[in-house]
Amino acid sequence: MERTFAMIKPEGVERGLIGAIISRIELKGYRIVALKMLRITPELAARHYAEHQGKPFYQELISHITSGPVVAMVLEGPGVIAGLRQMMGATNPKDAAPGTIRGDYALEVGKNVIHGSDSPASAAREIALFFTPGELGEEQAG
Ligand code: PPS
Repeated sequence: MERTFAMIKPEGVERGLIGAIISRIELKGYRIVALKMLRITPELAARHYAEHQGKPFYQELISHITSGPVVAMVLEGPGVIAGLRQMMGATNPKDAAPGTIRGDYALEVGKNVIHGSDSPASAAREIALFFTPGELGEEQAG
């Protein structure tokens, strides 16, 4: 079964959108395999956004994602990688359709409330960055 990595960004947590966003994901039918709230270190942020190093918005991206707690999740379901991206809407909330998460809850690209992996390779890489096999139920605890 396909899995993806999703993250509610600091402004989503700050604005009290955790429940609303998770509710949409669950109502769609995706299964939450793992979930945690954490404060991302600059080192983890650099690894997560490594492909964007050198882009004009890179520093803003790193300082923003480390500015407060985030909620990281692993989701599972048929076609969940593309399906979550559809539910999120366009990267820039100005272009995101009403009915999408960014279309309904965000105004600015730098505060677009949710991240979702964009490919199977990104999903596998990001899941492994944020979760141990034990947290994914892939090995017995203790
Ligand atoms: S690119 O160049 O097409 O690969 O970039 P894109 O996929 O659109 O965006 C990569 C991530 O950077 C975020 N982003 C920004 N953050 C702050 N300011 C600006 N101007 C900006 N533009 C893009 C964008 O939301 C992506 O992060 P995630 O976490 O994947 O949403």
